[in-house]
Amino acid sequence: MSSTSSGGSPPANTVKAVSVSSPARLRGEITPPGDKSISHRAAILNAVANGVARVTNYSTGADCASTVEVLRGLGVDIDHRPGSANRGGELTICGVGMNGLTEPSDVLDAGNSGTTARLMSGILAGRDFQAIITGDASIRSRPMGRVIDPLVEMGANILARDGGRLAPIVFNGGSLKGIEYRQAVASAQVKSCLLFAGLRAEGETIIRSPAISRDHSERMLAAMGAPVRTDGPDVSITASELSAVDIEVPGDISSAAFWLVAGVIHPDAEVAIRNVGLNPTRAGVLTVLREMGADIETVNEREVAGEPVGDLIARSSALHGVEIRGEIIPLLIDEIPVLAVAAALADGETVIADSEELRVKETDRIAATVEWMKAAGVDVEDRPDGMVIRGGRAIRGVTARSHDDHRIAMAIAVAGLVAEGGMRIEEAGAADISYPSFWRDLSTISGAVA
Ligand code: S3P
Repeated sequence: MSSTSSGGSPPANTVKAVSVSSPARLRGEITPPGDKSISHRAAILNAVANGVARVTNYSTGADCASTVEVLRGLGVDIDHRPGSANRGGELTICGVGMNGLTEPSDVLDAGNSGTTARLMSGILAGRDFQAIITGDASIRSRPMGRVIDPLVEMGANILARDGGRLAPIVFNGGSLKGIEYRQAVASAQVKSCLLFAGLRAEGETIIRSPAISRDHSERMLAAMGAPVRTDGPDVSITASELSAVDIEVPGDISSAAFWLVAGVIHPDAEVAIRNVGLNPTRAGVLTVLREMGADIETVNEREVAGEPVGDLIARSSALHGVEIRGEIIPLLIDEIPVLAVAAALADGETVIADSEELRVKETDRIAATVEWMKAAGVDVEDRPDGMVIRGGRAIRGVTARSHDDHRIAMAIAVAGLVAEGGMRIEEAGAADISYPSFWRDLSTISGAVA
């Protein structure tokens, strides 16, 4: 691995550029880090619960470290053993109860983490103190009106830049009452934010969504004793205290997705991915890859902390193009950058539609994907709500930019495993956001990182 320059905002840029070449074979076993979505929720909900909880296999990514720092800033005592490439993180959280948070003495920093900013907005709304949350340049350009508008409707006093749409966000009291809110996009972050606010609101909070999205908040809230109800994509909650629960976080399927695609696109591959969370509201990537003809075996299925878990084995496969659109999109939204790599190697056309949300992730993931793919000779067409990829051509090795987006960096690296001449990935350190041991794992199965 070569670090060619330094600088940028830590922790995303510890490694600047990485070269990945195409190995003859891919073999081995990988255990991805703890699930990022479940980790955020385990920390936040236990922080406002009653009792002490231990969270194991906490995500080693920088985003989840941001959540711990934000909670500490609100007076929560958290012992954080960050973990390493071989070991998940560990938290011991002394819950302060639903009304026990205290006024922070400084601005709260969500770093690069949209989940921290949006989920914590539901926790910070309508408190009897003032708090300000912000983040890096990406966070300060991402839409926050989607959480601010319904929270204001619930009675929170909130100010934010650009007429209430952009961070920094200032929370200044108010008293919350339940609302019935219909969200236009199926966002789990918005749903979770409003569920968390609903824990302190008078009356019932109902959130209606156009499709099902990840349900980790609902599962965890129920396990902690909250009266949360689910009806298809709609959820509701009333005020409640929470009881702390110990949580063993399953491995992150969004991180596993890079190895699933690597395994199925490489001509001589067998990669085992251990301890992967298989919650159906997250497993759209498995459905689509299998529909494309991928040889992916699920073994050792079990349940951990109320979430289905298993091991996956991905083997070299002949893939064909598919249509990815509609209700499956929220179930695989973060995996689209790497699914695009599978599409580029598949025979025929893959259409990715209904995915305009990709334009407001850590970067515009449609633009970033189309940019590197065009440079690498892939037949790809940019659409407002996705892209069309006509696959089957060889990928040419080029120097490509991640735009400081962790999932773009890792998707390009996966393409590097089959590209003619290998890939050079700039701003590769962005992988630290969700998967700090990614480059090490890549060299373990391939010996191909320089
Ligand atoms: C997340 C929900 C998704 C996803 C993000 C994590 C969560 O965002 O893209 O990485 O943990 O709730 P949206 O809710 O904006 O779709």
